[in-house]
Amino acid sequence: MTNPSAFVHADTLLLPTATISDAFESLTQSGKGAALLLDSKGRLQHLFTDGDLRRVLLAGQSIETPLAQLKHKTPHSVSPDVRHHEALMLMDRYRIDQLPILDNEGRPVGLHLRRDIGSRIWLSTPHIGEEELQFVNQAFASNWIAPLGPNVDAFEREVAAKVEVGHAAALSSGTAAIHLALILLGISRGDRVLCSSLTFVASANPILYVGAEPLFVDAEAGSWNMCPIALERALEQSAREGRPARAVMVVDIYGQAADYDRIRPICDRYGVPIIEDAAEALGASYGGKPCGGFGRIGVFSFNGNKIITTSGGGMLVADDADLVQHARKLATQAREDCPWYEHKEIGYNYRMSNVLAGIGRGQLSRLEERVAARRAIFERYHEALAQIDAIEWMPEYEGSFSNRWLTTCTLGAGIDPQAVCDDLARLDIEVRRVWKPMHRQPLFASSQFVNSGSNLDVASDLFERGLCLPSGSNMTEEQIDRVCDALSAALGRADRT
Ligand SMILES: Cc1ncc(COP(=O)(O)O)c(C=O)c1O
Repeated sequence: MTNPSAFVHADTLLLPTATISDAFESLTQSGKGAALLLDSKGRLQHLFTDGDLRRVLLAGQSIETPLAQLKHKTPHSVSPDVRHHEALMLMDRYRIDQLPILDNEGRPVGLHLRRDIGSRIWLSTPHIGEEELQFVNQAFASNWIAPLGPNVDAFEREVAAKVEVGHAAALSSGTAAIHLALILLGISRGDRVLCSSLTFVASANPILYVGAEPLFVDAEAGSWNMCPIALERALEQSAREGRPARAVMVVDIYGQAADYDRIRPICDRYGVPIIEDAAEALGASYGGKPCGGFGRIGVFSFNGNKIITTSGGGMLVADDADLVQHARKLATQAREDCPWYEHKEIGYNYRMSNVLAGIGRGQLSRLEERVAARRAIFERYHEALAQIDAIEWMPEYEGSFSNRWLTTCTLGAGIDPQAVCDDLARLDIEVRRVWKPMHRQPLFASSQFVNSGSNLDVASDLFERGLCLPSGSNMTEEQIDRVCDALSAALGRADRT
């Protein structure tokens, strides 16, 4: 694979007549840590680092000495088809931090830098901008650190407006929001709650917190989300068993909405409310309507790995003002409106602080950019790996606009995704398996699972073949290319085994 993004910046290149002084200037301008001296045909003659230049000055050369007069060895270089991890291994071997890429004629066409390709690439890291500090500073300046305060009120209003839902309550986590959603819907001991099986455990744990019984519903291949056919079967079966579902937890997985045009009429027919777990789907939409507003209650997470973060936090949204006001009360120890501390219900300490809401406001102001960046990352993977038949991308189905929180794919039959994760981990690239479905978790061994009626288990198939690639909105193009290189090499090896 070539290295289109590792081009050589003009500031890095020096003409044959360049002097030591010109080389210092080039190093300062380019910030690449290396200046490349060319001959009259544009071929690489020598590579100078800051240290090289200082050594020749200390040896008595003048700053105006032409570089061509200095003695030098032929610099190490590689051809464009050398992969990032191979280049890194060569840099380790030669103990260098820059490695020029030369074409057949010996002309520089790129420059590998250790600082770009030698650092760990994470799955999804926080992407902090400049706006966050302004809001946080306001909180400090007004001594309004905690709890609650103007940033919390504003963040709630801004999220509600963004997702086109009437009201929002800022909470300490997405898990807290799911817990409160269940309580607000009156779910308690012995009640049955249907839940997408292909999800993170935080969608299902709160069902256990309230003593209810989860029943897991399979995914469909077209969206990776809850299968409407399986949902209908699960609702029917629950009614038949005399255990009608009290709520359905529909998860918008990996930043893509479930198929609500098919799911909502089914739930309406059974009179069951939807809790939309949109923890991963802020900024995504379905039929032009933002995720989070498709159920009676919607939930977001601002955990550090999400599309926007408050370092840790969550939001509960609903059109029903009383419901959201009740959520705020439950989240502040359920204190009654009374001059002293009066309590009638069990309360929780689930509110978000004014400082963290400040981070959230700054982050939210960049949501569209973050979505665009994650979608562009998906596109780059998609294009760069288009030749690899063994990769099938998570589909973005008609009507859905995914935020591509994580770029996810499945691998062809016979390729072990864990081996690929392990391979890439050795190259300091964090790649993760797709969520292991809840019905396969020991924690839920006694819970039921309902599929679409055939022998298929779509959620398990996605787990057994799925991979999540690094997708943080602050990734550089070089990092994406490094992942592509490493992944295609790992898949090449897997194909041969
Ligand atoms: C689908 C899903 N639901 C719920 C959560 C829980 O959110 P939090 O980590 O903010 O508690 C997460 C993420 O962590 C998630 O991915």
